[in-house]
Amino acid sequence: MKYNILVKDKARNHTCNENKNLMDGLSIYENLVPKGCHNGACGVCKIHISNGDYSKLKMNRKHISEEDENNNIVLACKVLPKTDMKIEFLPKTISNIDKNVYILGN
Ligand code: FES
Repeated sequence: MKYNILVKDKARNHTCNENKNLMDGLSIYENLVPKGCHNGACGVCKIHISNGDYSKLKMNRKHISEEDENNNIVLACKVLPKTDMKIEFLPKTISNIDKNVYILGN
């Protein structure tokens, strides 16, 4: 089954198959999703889900905190749609781990 995925700031709905994660499902649309690893490692696919139901795989804590996850901020490559959804891609931020490395390296 396919679901409509509305990406904030984009003109129209896009579809994603229920057995594909959002990154794999939406990457067929040119310039819609950032280039990334598709396996949870790089963090470029951080999204906020404002509407819709989904299942998720384990999030990489380097990029998504438990608090993020509770607020529907997740990695698109670890989310499979269960209904139509509305999402927004978020800028990749420096994680706490990266901040600590920066502080120690100062
Ligand atoms: S594409 Fe790299 S973490 Fe999702």
